[in-house]
Amino acid sequence: MSENSYYNKLLNNNKEWVSHKLAEDKDYFTRLASLQKPPVLWIGCADSRVPANEITGTKSGEMFVHRNIANMVVHTDINMLSVLDYAVNQLKVKHIIVCGHYGCGGVEAAMHSKSLGLIDKWVRNIKEVYKKNKVELERIPTEEGRFDRLVELNVKDQVYDLAKTSIVQKAWKANQDLELHGWVYGLKDGLIKDLKVNMDSPEHLDSIYILDFD
Ligand code: CO
Repeated sequence: MSENSYYNKLLNNNKEWVSHKLAEDKDYFTRLASLQKPPVLWIGCADSRVPANEITGTKSGEMFVHRNIANMVVHTDINMLSVLDYAVNQLKVKHIIVCGHYGCGGVEAAMHSKSLGLIDKWVRNIKEVYKKNKVELERIPTEEGRFDRLVELNVKDQVYDLAKTSIVQKAWKANQDLELHGWVYGLKDGLIKDLKVNMDSPEHLDSIYILDFD
């Protein structure tokens, strides 16, 4: 199939999808167009094999989604912060899920020294996670084991980084119902592992990160 016909196929797929949806429910689009009230903010990897809705069996309207390389929560990233602020303060999501995945190319790049251009700067954030957990990681005998563990540790770190934001801490201070979670998706079996870093208050943070809004 030529690239052009592949491209046209996407537009044709869309038309088919619309007729399919309307056949199931004639008000599908009018209803969705009038309101967005998703209970979840998903922060996932940009990897094409980790589609948030598909792997969780959720539909349009159920998840507000932000994706970047290696599902990072970088506290100077205005894009992520804008999504987070909108999700927490306007949409009032109840859950924020950071979902990483085994076999993540971003995490793999962080474990090696080869320069890949601009992405080196982004990957630097993951190198910091490696550095922080170097003792634990280097006790793992296999490269594959270290890679899998760094994927998990990176997700945990991003959940903590969410908890460190003023956006999340202000919501908790106002008794808003908001829980943070960390998951890892397995490309090889499709299963999600819950890392049990569920947080609904800043109590697990080092006191240096707890902000005083008074
Ligand atoms: Co990835």
